[in-house]
Amino acid sequence: MRNQIAAANWKMNLTFQKGEKLLDEILAAGIKLKQHQQVIFAVPFPYLLMARSEVEEEKNYYTAAQNCYHKKNGAFTGEVSAEMLHSLAIPYCIVGHSERREYFKETNEMLADKLNLCLEYFITPIFCCGEPLPIRESKMQNQFVQTQLQESLFHLTAEQITNIIIAYEPIWAIGTGKTATTDQAQEMHAFLRSILANQYGQTIADQISILYGGSVKANNAKELFDCRDVDGGLVGGASLIAQDFLEIIKGLK
Ligand code: PGA
Repeated sequence: MRNQIAAANWKMNLTFQKGEKLLDEILAAGIKLKQHQQVIFAVPFPYLLMARSEVEEEKNYYTAAQNCYHKKNGAFTGEVSAEMLHSLAIPYCIVGHSERREYFKETNEMLADKLNLCLEYFITPIFCCGEPLPIRESKMQNQFVQTQLQESLFHLTAEQITNIIIAYEPIWAIGTGKTATTDQAQEMHAFLRSILANQYGQTIADQISILYGGSVKANNAKELFDCRDVDGGLVGGASLIAQDFLEIIKGLK
């Protein structure tokens, strides 16, 4: 079975103390993950070492950065490179979240560079894609998301692409409480897998975990994760509440 993943995206929320307490509460619940299940905490940069040491002893619990810079190193005050994350043994990094695309003007081309750097430094990228509302309303979502993959992902080799996690996050569902229906999620995930299969072959497409993101909550996670091509979720708001995120973890296939 493909890896099934519950990834928490804290964004710019929680003080250090609250973040540490949240991790303690989640880990204290002692949910034992199956071989193919993973829980990933994407925390703010200054919390990475704390989070890494919290999850160190726990099987299949990991830490992620929420971003890295698209240049290797140099005079970029305030930025964090993939090499720096690697030097802290951080195994995952979110790349191309819609908030970064929108507020920080990240382009598909910059994201391609970020993916290359992550892979060069043995960091598994969680690559986000997804359409805004007007695109969904004009039924152009497939073309839109296909272009995002083509321009950021499809230069990768077959071997590289198996080291990537994809997160489909329709922008109209992020932080809005408006979740995609299971039909909408499954349809898009199947489409994403089909274009991966066209590019890399079915065997490889079948190995890639595709997460759903956008108002995943304790009460809808399981039905979303039960969809054939949905391999877990990237969770914002509900990952900030221990009980809610625990329920979401329990919803994994
Ligand atoms: P949300 O955020 O769960 O709060 O909608 C998801 C995300 O942005 O990754």
